[in-house]
Amino acid sequence: MEKTTTIIPQGDVERQLWYCEQVAAVTAQWPERPLAFVDTYGCQQNEADSERIRGYLKKMGFGFTDDEERARIIVINTCAIREHAEQRVLGNVGALVHVKRRHPEQLICLCGCMMQEPHVAEKIRQSYRHVDLVFGPHALWKFPEMIYTLLTQRGRIFSNADEAGSIAEGIPVVRQDKVKAWVSIMYGCNNFCSYCIVPYVRGRERSRRPEDILQEVEELAREGYKDITLLGQNVNSYGKDLEEPMDFADLLERVNAIPGEFLIRFMTSHPKDATHKLFETMARCEKVAPVLHLPFQAGNDRVLKVMNRRHTREQYLEKIRDLKSLIPDIVLTSDIIVGFPGETTEEFEDTLKVLEEVRFDALFTFIFSPRVGTPAANMDDPMPREEKLANFNRLTALQDAISEEKHRAYVGRTVRCLLDGLSDDERYDLTARTPGNRLVRVVGGRSALGQFRDVKITDANKWSLFGELIE
Ligand code: SAH
Ligand code: SF4
Ligand code: F3S
Repeated sequence: MEKTTTIIPQGDVERQLWYCEQVAAVTAQWPERPLAFVDTYGCQQNEADSERIRGYLKKMGFGFTDDEERARIIVINTCAIREHAEQRVLGNVGALVHVKRRHPEQLICLCGCMMQEPHVAEKIRQSYRHVDLVFGPHALWKFPEMIYTLLTQRGRIFSNADEAGSIAEGIPVVRQDKVKAWVSIMYGCNNFCSYCIVPYVRGRERSRRPEDILQEVEELAREGYKDITLLGQNVNSYGKDLEEPMDFADLLERVNAIPGEFLIRFMTSHPKDATHKLFETMARCEKVAPVLHLPFQAGNDRVLKVMNRRHTREQYLEKIRDLKSLIPDIVLTSDIIVGFPGETTEEFEDTLKVLEEVRFDALFTFIFSPRVGTPAANMDDPMPREEKLANFNRLTALQDAISEEKHRAYVGRTVRCLLDGLSDDERYDLTARTPGNRLVRVVGGRSALGQFRDVKITDANKWSLFGELIE
């Protein structure tokens, strides 16, 4: 890969912080402290982006609310991965017309992957005239300047030009959680799987400098974060564009060496780039959680080829065997698409065979959704929706049985878990995560929230485990 990664000059980021101060001077004149509502769809990458939008908003003098009626600024961070995600966003944005009628001073901002799609931005321009600001992921770092312009001039702003993308360091962050944190290590994707919109909306693969990543993790460890996830669409190709080449396994090793008691997770991995070196590093590094999310999408080689995944079923299975031999208790999860154009039911059954062989702990399963501009959207797709649904149901039934069986195997064991949240089910006090990230509902221990503690697993179902804190 050519070393063409654009790093935004520090002075340009500082200029955005200057805009924050200008906005703060405006909001300080208002009778009450203004509130902002940031609503996030999609993956952790979007969650991480929203934490930066909140960081900027805080610097601009805003507090936060979940009530759109009270918000002076509404930001909806959107996802384009499937039709369903887009429909939900458009429905909610449509409903905001009425809210804005009651509060005409309100600013409505749409950002994220959907806004980077030209046909969507055009639709917002034409039919959603109550939306003031539209920007894609590439323009996020200029958010303060756009807000300043909206507050001081009339009109709407659309900032979603197609770009390869850049890296901006030094944007403030307001994190949503005190125990778990996301750290983006790279942005974009070069894989162009034929069904996927991500490379079109997130630009080319580009890696943050290792020193910036390590500094961020060190700070998180000092602040007491216990569960740190390194994020990228394809973390296994980290570092290819750096001045001094470094691969993901090397980065993992260096993050592992940071002092403190915390777990390191990462996602997402692409099978074609997941190496023996990575598996060995995972096995050796005590902070790296024994879990791997390794999407395989389909079990049939012809389908994998048309998906442009660049690995075969056997290559995938070989990697899993290698990993299991190094880390026998590894927790495995994956993504699967059912009903890719042209996939026959017989070919789909090869996906079921992979499930039976690997025995994943959990799966994320999707029915193919055509995305404008991707090759798969123009492929012949003769299978009726009912047949796709029937296949989808066979897949989830098989996985439910496997998940339940794998969860049942924990019953009676004592597992060191991270107590990561308060339970929303009143029969339990806390939620916790096993090192492999399985959810545990725990009785007792409210005061130990945020700590690693031994939990005796007493029961399980297909979704989660149940246990008691050992005092
Ligand atoms: N970068 C990650 C995944 C990003 S999207 C990876 O490569 O694995 C998350 C998942 O959404 C994908 O793994 C895929 O299973 C699913 N997905 C992506 N595009 C889709 C589409 N057009 N229709 C249905 N599912 C899709
Ligand atoms: Fe999409 Fe494939 Fe890139 Fe994942 S690796 S983001 S599925 S193009
Ligand atoms: Fe969605 Fe964009 Fe993530 S399309 S899945 S929010 S990268």
